[in-house]
Amino acid sequence: MKNILVTGGAGFIGSNFIHYLLKRYDDINIVNIDLLTYAGNLDNLVEVSDDKRYTFVRGDIHDRALVEELFQKYEFDTVVNFAAESHVDRSITDPDIFLITNVLGTQTLLDVAKKHWKLDPDDKYSREFKEGVKYLQVSTDEVYGALGATGLFTEKTPLAPNSPYSASKASADFVVRAYAQTYGMPVNITRCSNNYGPYQFPEKLIPLMINNCLAEKNLPVYGDGMQIRDWLYVEDHCAAITTVLEKGVLGEVYNVGGNNEKANIEIVKLIIDNTGKTEDLIVHVKDRPGHDRRYAIDNTKITTELGWAPAYTFETGMAQTIEWYLSHKEWMDKIVSGEYMSYYEKMYK
Ligand code: NAD
Ligand code: DAU
Repeated sequence: MKNILVTGGAGFIGSNFIHYLLKRYDDINIVNIDLLTYAGNLDNLVEVSDDKRYTFVRGDIHDRALVEELFQKYEFDTVVNFAAESHVDRSITDPDIFLITNVLGTQTLLDVAKKHWKLDPDDKYSREFKEGVKYLQVSTDEVYGALGATGLFTEKTPLAPNSPYSASKASADFVVRAYAQTYGMPVNITRCSNNYGPYQFPEKLIPLMINNCLAEKNLPVYGDGMQIRDWLYVEDHCAAITTVLEKGVLGEVYNVGGNNEKANIEIVKLIIDNTGKTEDLIVHVKDRPGHDRRYAIDNTKITTELGWAPAYTFETGMAQTIEWYLSHKEWMDKIVSGEYMSYYEKMYK
């Protein structure tokens, strides 16, 4: 892991991952390709923008000529694909772009990487790749669908995605699998549960509720608010991805989660308490169509086989997260104008 192509690095998890690597590895070169959609934000990376180990390129992962040019110039040995349309609610109203970016974008990256990494790219029967190269697909627990009151997602749980977003991510996982099976491509897939932490776009539950508390706006809880997610602090996800890059067995899928199941309403109340507001702000709004009731990850494989474990408890992670948003008001204020306001009006009207 020396020359890394990080895609979608101006988004929430990608930018945290770039900070994570630059803090820990001296001998590394990172190229971040990001289209800077509404979710991409270079403010997330201002502290590293002059770092010699880091280069930003604005572009689309589905632009083959650009990806090809970057591979030729930088000779990547590692690709970590974060780039995606990531918000379930947006996928319900505008699914097309989810299929284009999440599925076709992934296939473009895989195809260009295959061409550059295969020892004999013209021999269709050859399965030999350069030493030490790896493509890592950042996937999600949502590909497994929804759980009832009990049970956990393991890597063997059949894929049963329920939203256009999760269907696009599951499709991408199948494309990654096909490149491993058909061509012998060195890949891993990670499937993580819900992340929280700094730099998360405030269309997602936690930053949206923090921002609305600070602005004394209503807190829109979908349905009864008893849907359960398994929350993980973003730095723990970054550590898990790094562990899989370094130790993951080629071709394997690793679930990532912190055994932290919480109902949405519990989270909203915790944010209310920590921002000194009252529960009068809570408004139960119409539920998300096809809303998955519960997600929960069995992380036995990555913890026992690769030795990864979350470092943050939910309490320490949430305290740090709320403190970060309180002390970065200007970061939030810049986002919650323009496009965000029209999205918000349309979504919660
Ligand atoms: P995000 O929406 O915050 O960031 C996505 C980034 O991808 C943005 O910077 C955006 O500009 C960029 N992008 C979008 N389309 C692009 C394209 N065609 N070419 C290049 N860049 C493009 O998303 P996130 O929450 O940081 O999620 C990152 C990845 O992790 C996604 O693949 C998501 O499916 C996965 N994931 C997210 C979570 C979570 O809780 N947020 C959990 C598990 C997995
Ligand atoms: O599980 C991993 C997934 O987590 C990732 O793959 C996705 O990219 C990421 O967006 C996230 O998906 P969710 O749909 O779980 O996250 P979101 O923050 O949108 O919603 C979390 C829960 O909170 C969900 O049950 C819906 C609910 N919710 C969300 C919003 C934005 C509300 O009740 N009100 C809201 O306003």
